Amino acid sequence: MADEPRRGTHGRRHRPRARPSPRAVHRRRDRGRDRALPGGEVDRPVAGHDDRDPPPRRRRTRNPLDLAPRLGLVIVDRTDEELRYALPCKWGLVEEDVLPAWVAESDYAWAPPIAAALADAVARGLTGYPDFEVGGALGEAYAGFALRQFGHEVDPAAVIPTADVTAGVRLALDILSEPGPVIMPIPGYPPQLSIAQVTGRQRVDLVVDPDAERAEIDLDALDRLFADGALTLLLTQPHNPWGRVFTRSELEGIRDVVRRHGARVVSDEIHAPLVLDGSPPHTPYLSLDGTADHAVAVVAGSKAFNTQGLKCAQILAPDPATRDLLRDVPMARNDSWSPLGVTAAIAAYTECDDWLDALRARLSAQRDLLVDLLAEHLPEARMRPLEATYLAWIDLRGYGHDDPAAVALEHGRVRLSPGHDYQPGLPGHVRLNIATSPERLTEIVRRMAKALA
Ligand SMILES: Cc1ncc(COP(=O)(O)O)c(C=O)c1O
Repeated sequence: MADEPRRGTHGRRHRPRARPSPRAVHRRRDRGRDRALPGGEVDRPVAGHDDRDPPPRRRRTRNPLDLAPRLGLVIVDRTDEELRYALPCKWGLVEEDVLPAWVAESDYAWAPPIAAALADAVARGLTGYPDFEVGGALGEAYAGFALRQFGHEVDPAAVIPTADVTAGVRLALDILSEPGPVIMPIPGYPPQLSIAQVTGRQRVDLVVDPDAERAEIDLDALDRLFADGALTLLLTQPHNPWGRVFTRSELEGIRDVVRRHGARVVSDEIHAPLVLDGSPPHTPYLSLDGTADHAVAVVAGSKAFNTQGLKCAQILAPDPATRDLLRDVPMARNDSWSPLGVTAAIAAYTECDDWLDALRARLSAQRDLLVDLLAEHLPEARMRPLEATYLAWIDLRGYGHDDPAAVALEHGRVRLSPGHDYQPGLPGHVRLNIATSPERLTEIVRRMAKALA
C-alpha cells in the first residue's frame, strides 16, 4: 500500500544512518548562532566560526534568510544556561545535575525569522489584546503552510485562533459535542486524560496493547464504544506518545466508523509538522471527504517551532455552521490568545519551511542515534518505529522496574516522563524527549543504562 510506513526502517533492525562526526556537530553548533536585534536586524557570526578563532566579522541584514544559503540552515543547540532561562518548566523544574528529557519542548533556538519577528514586535510594543480576528493574516498564513506541507486546501476563514491546543480541544468538546462519553485512545497525552471530565463528559478508553507490534486504533473496538453510547472521538495524529503517523487508509477506516454512528471527531494535529524521514506523510483528517460536517482539527506551530509559551493555536472548522458556533462563544469561554503568539505563528507558517526541513533532518538523526544507543546500552528496551514527533515511547519492562522514570531520576539524574502518566497503571514504560543535542541524548541514555540495567 502506497501510504503504509516502510516497516523496519527505524526499528531495532534498522541499519544506522551515518552519524555526524563530533567535529561536524561542533561546527554545526557554532554556525548560525544569531542574535536578533530590535527592528528585526540580525547580528550573526560568520559561518564556521570556532570559539578559538579571532572575533568573528559581523554582518547586519534586515532579512535573516538573506544569508541562509551561505550559512547553511542549521538547528542551533541552546546551552544549558540558556535553556534554564528559556524553558522554565522543562529545564527550570529540575535540579542542576539532572538532564531533562521530559516535557515536550525542544532544546533548539528559534528559527531566525521567528526571532526577528518577535524582536521587532517587542521593540514596537506589541503587548495589547489581539484583534480577535478570525481568518485574517493568521488564516492566510496557515492556509499557505497547510497547502505546501500537507497538500491540504484550507479556507483561511476556517482558521479560528485559540489560546493553545488544550484550550482548543476543550472548547471543541464543550461547544460542539453532545454531552456524552468521549473516546480517548490510550496511552494518551496526560492533560487530555482529564479533558472529557473537565467538560462534564465521561472518558472511555480505547487501549492499545503494550505488546502489539504496531500501535493502532482497533476499528471493531471503536465501533463497539460508539454502539455503547460514546459520541466523540478525541483523535491525536500524529500520535503522542505512540509516535505514529496515521495512514490515509487508517483514517478513512476511522471516518467510516464515525459516520456510521453519527459521531464527532476532534483531531489534535499539533505534531503534524514533525513527520520524520522514512514515514508516510501526514494526512489531515479534514482533508478526507465527508469529514467537514462532523470534525474540527486543532493545530499549532508551537511544538515544531518551540513557541509553546506564546499561546496561539488554531481550530480549523471548515463547516460554516460549526464555525459560527465557535466564533460566537462567550468571551468567558474561549481563553484569549496572544498577539506575540500570532506574530510567531505567522512567521513560522510563512518563512520557516527550510528551517523546518532542517529540524526534521536533525530529529530523524536523533531518532536513529537513539535506536543505536538503546541497542548498545539498553538492549532489553523495546521501541516501536518512531515515525513522527520528538517523543520516543520506550518499553523498559525487560529491566523489571515498575517505574523506570523514578529509578532513572534517582540513580541516573535524568528526568523522563513516566509511562503511567499516559496510561494509568501501565508499568515499565517511559517517554523520552529526543529534541536535544546528540551529546545530551548520548548522555541521557548512558545515565538511564547506569540506573536501570
Ligand atoms: C498531542 C498533544 N496535544 C496537545 C499538547 C499541548 O499543546 P498546548 O501546549 O498547545 O496546549 C501536546 C504537548 O505536548 C501534545 O503532545
